[in-house]
Amino acid sequence: MNESTSVTPVTISGTGSYVPEKILTNTDLEKIVDTSDEWIFSRTGIKERRIAAEGEFTSHMATKAAERALEQAGITAKEVDLIIVATITPDTLTPSTACYVQANLGASSAVAFDISAACSGFLYAMKLAKRLISDGAYQNALIIGAEKLSSFINWKDRNTCVLFGDGAGAAVLRKSEPGEGRILASETGSDGRHAGLLDIKGGGSACPITMANATDNLATLAMQGREVFKLAVTAMRQASEKVIERAGLTPDDITLVVPHQANLRIIDAISDRLAIPNEKVFVNLHKYGNTSAAAIAIALDEAHREGKFKRGDNIIMVAFGAGLTWAAAAIEW
Ligand code: COA
Repeated sequence: MNESTSVTPVTISGTGSYVPEKILTNTDLEKIVDTSDEWIFSRTGIKERRIAAEGEFTSHMATKAAERALEQAGITAKEVDLIIVATITPDTLTPSTACYVQANLGASSAVAFDISAACSGFLYAMKLAKRLISDGAYQNALIIGAEKLSSFINWKDRNTCVLFGDGAGAAVLRKSEPGEGRILASETGSDGRHAGLLDIKGGGSACPITMANATDNLATLAMQGREVFKLAVTAMRQASEKVIERAGLTPDDITLVVPHQANLRIIDAISDRLAIPNEKVFVNLHKYGNTSAAAIAIALDEAHREGKFKRGDNIIMVAFGAGLTWAAAAIEW
């Protein structure tokens, strides 16, 4: 559905992000698994990633990112009436991480829940919150992408452990006032037939972790990287094209693309196919690796704070992740 036809336009009034202090470099990883800085950097573009401290959970990172977004939006936590946390690494299976964040913030008027759409989660949350604000159900939504992937990595599997990192990003959404920007269009999609390409098999009801399987690394990420790569390029290109068209834009109208930060080769392939030059594509994966639902949220906040776009500029965000899921959004800032 084309958001530009919605009755009530919705804008992003603040962004925030947080990454843990601890840096794990490619060179550090050379001491853990049979890999090299050269292999990781040339295949992915990643140089280092952040790792949460012991006792630092997804909700803690989410809370810090949220506080920064609220400060920028100029509202207090009490004014937030909707909190959606997108994560695949919740503090606990239940309650939701969003409820912990609500308590941490003191956002006592909010309804809080999580969504699980992997790396596409932040844009799923954006579309949902946008619709709920448009419909008049809520006024100030806090959407957060937050992950502590380091807790779900098999640190002996070089196919995956070099790719991921921890962090959180957040945005505040509210009704757009005259003269302000707005979310122009968004696209979300899923294809569960490819669920097995990227998953965490254990720890859910299908495969509880027991004494018998505790050493099998079932509660860690497993991935068929090459297949995921191909599907990611196609899905992200198509989703981007859809939102560009629905927003009534052409690639020339776009100031900045904020893509999911998984692999520089995927990002380059998409910018090639969309005919958008590399200098209009925001990249920070060399610093953080793939932080799943947090990646676009962190990238948007960094790009915003670095002044990469200003009011009136058109931005495209596009993601792809486990499920499989994909999503894109076009925004006039
Ligand atoms: N260090 C050194 N060698 C490694 C390695 C590592 N960290 N990880 C894998 N290899 C090896 C493989 O074992 C394989 O060896 P083999 O040929 O002897 O079997 C070789 O490198 C090539 O593996 P391949 O899978 O073909 O590499 P690739 O060029 O496809 O790159 C990925 C692998 C994972 C970087 C790439 O497929 C990718 O990025 N896929 C998308 C993943 C992704 O973004 N997932 C998240 C989506 S949200």
